[in-house]
Amino acid sequence: MHHGFKNAEHWAKVFDDPARDSWQQPDRIVAELGLTPTMTVADIGAGTGYFTVRLARAVPQGHVIATDLEPDMIRYLEQRAQRESLPNIRAVLTPANDPQLAAGSVDRILVADVWHHVDGRLAYARKLATALRPDGLVVIVDFKLDATRGPPAKFRLAPDAVVAELASAGLTAKVAFELPDQYVITARRLPPP
Ligand SMILES: C[S@@+](CC[C@H](N)C(=O)[O-])C[C@H]1O[C@@H](n2cnc3c(N)ncnc32)[C@H](O)[C@@H]1O
Repeated sequence: MHHGFKNAEHWAKVFDDPARDSWQQPDRIVAELGLTPTMTVADIGAGTGYFTVRLARAVPQGHVIATDLEPDMIRYLEQRAQRESLPNIRAVLTPANDPQLAAGSVDRILVADVWHHVDGRLAYARKLATALRPDGLVVIVDFKLDATRGPPAKFRLAPDAVVAELASAGLTAKVAFELPDQYVITARRLPPP
């Protein structure tokens, strides 16, 4: 699914609407990541930084790599990081098919409300798996098939299908918990044989 997210100031009103907290429950999602202060976290499709700033505060001695394919989101993220005095955020413009993370370089990866936008998800999942450090974790949050908000129904993904994509990429994946409109999937690196 392709959607234009070109005007960051417009989308900030949507993504950072304080009313979002009640259905998104960001603290629960950040808790699921099990962050420690020095970790490196990738926020894939970071948008206007709704999760990025929360992650950055949770890893004060670590880093958040905030990716997006929209240049205006990267500009906005850089300005937001300055405005909110969060120098541990690095905003990176990435192509649609590659998170551009070095192998074994990140402890945690968050993909919030983005997975249904990604084409070639299996290949993308393999790149995420490769980027993880040992004991690394990917968390994917996306909309249920019967959600009362989110993308049009035809673009939604069944949680079992997402778990299967991550398993095909060599990760141990499961639905960790559900929110009213969303599922939260965790995927871990398998230990080496
Ligand atoms: C619905 S917004 C979610 C933003 C943010 N994760 C949040 O929860 O507020 C989707 C974002 O993902 C970006 N995006 C979509 N496909 C992407 C891809 N393949 N790689 C990187 N970013 C992507 C869009 O430009 C947009 O900023």
